[in-house]
Amino acid sequence: MKFFLDTASVAEIREGAALGILDGVTTNPSLVAKEKRDFRKILEEICEICEGPVSAEVTEVTCEGMLREGRSLAKIAGNIVVKIPLIKEGIKACRILRGEGIKVNVTLCFSPNQALLAAKAGASYISPFIGRLDDISQEGMQVIQDIRQIYDNYNFPTEILVASIRHPMHVVEAAKIGADVATMPFKVFDQMLAHPLTDAGLKKFLDDWKSTQGK
Ligand code: E4P
Repeated sequence: MKFFLDTASVAEIREGAALGILDGVTTNPSLVAKEKRDFRKILEEICEICEGPVSAEVTEVTCEGMLREGRSLAKIAGNIVVKIPLIKEGIKACRILRGEGIKVNVTLCFSPNQALLAAKAGASYISPFIGRLDDISQEGMQVIQDIRQIYDNYNFPTEILVASIRHPMHVVEAAKIGADVATMPFKVFDQMLAHPLTDAGLKKFLDDWKSTQGK
């Protein structure tokens, strides 16, 4: 399973990359807005830190507009993946950009049917937002399960990028289903690592070791 960080914070990406297990980054307009800096500059920096795929989202909603913006974003660095919303115009734009060799992450996916359409359009990644489904009392993880089954049935190469992850158990469930990628806030990365028994165990080992010194 690949791990992406879902952030536009260069500091967080630097810290995540230092662990040596960061496979990519996803951003969206809301995450970029938090940074209060030039979008293209942020992307340039992120692409220098992370060699893996870095998703950058278009803000146009017509096919023509998305193509213009997507082509321009793709020029920033070789690892940019253009993120396109799952609307009719987006499906059209996805097919065209793929024909030009530009990788596309189709975002704002909330159903297996939407994911099927994105795969048909040649998306490199599909981003189902599980946390936002859970928020409205729908089972987000069931959508991941359904998409996995559908993609496997037809050997679609589109990678399932589980998005809107809110806590570590979302990652465990997504991994059990066999999702390709989990993109998560930095906080969840930290939460995956933490365990009170690890901390207590390490403290005991170090205390016991110290007690043998000087004897
Ligand atoms: C994914 O690419 C999105 O940026 C993100 O996961 C959305 O998460 P949220 O629902 O927590 O905003």
